[in-house]
Amino acid sequence: MRKWVVANFKMFKTIEEVEEYAEEFKSLVAESKHNIAVCPSFVGIKPMEELLEDTDIFVGAQNCADEEEGAYTGEVSAKMLKSAGADMVILGHSERRRYYGETDEIVNKKIKQAHKEGLAVIVCLADDGGDGFEENIKKQIEVLLDGVDAGEKLIIAFEPVWAIGTGKTMKTEDIEPVTKVIKEEARKVIGYMPEVLYGGSVKVSNAEEILALESVDGLLVGGASKDPNEFAKICNS
Ligand code: 13P
Repeated sequence: MRKWVVANFKMFKTIEEVEEYAEEFKSLVAESKHNIAVCPSFVGIKPMEELLEDTDIFVGAQNCADEEEGAYTGEVSAKMLKSAGADMVILGHSERRRYYGETDEIVNKKIKQAHKEGLAVIVCLADDGGDGFEENIKKQIEVLLDGVDAGEKLIIAFEPVWAIGTGKTMKTEDIEPVTKVIKEEARKVIGYMPEVLYGGSVKVSNAEEILALESVDGLLVGGASKDPNEFAKICNS
């Protein structure tokens, strides 16, 4: 079964490092059975896309503006991402929420901007998968997906906040109930069950087990995506 393996480089890698990575990485995953995407910083998108042009690997961004264009100093629009060669964009990551004050309402506007440009969206939920997760996820999904065009590509990522960059992963048996709730709640709003990715300290040693879960459609990988060899091993799981 073809699943997603998505790299989130976060604020790492210069243009030169992105180029080096792309050259090395593409031959390592030529036989992967998964859909692979790499999401460098804004400035890494164009070089990454150019070097991966002859592959099936998707290139994505980690954020976009919630407005189409205008006097918004420092912002990067969905249209700019598209013209740089991005296929997709990660939105509402918990680091964006924590450090830059993004709310579900703002992320909802960003999803609509991205979809207007035909970008696929990976929208992240902010939950810890603990007590009360059902109610919290329901509330978030209602706001995040409000008025979102069901005809556009949407993937949801579930990353327990305590598992991000900590080396701690959710127990495999605890992941499935959460992803099932996410799919069901999303279906109520957009009319179909979207693909759901798991993220949070995914590494070579746990990737295969998580990918094998029926309700998990892929992985969103931070730290372990920085090294092309390590990330390729995950892609080849
Ligand atoms: P780590 O894989 O470093 O825990 O990061 C997860 C993440 O935030 C991916 O978006």
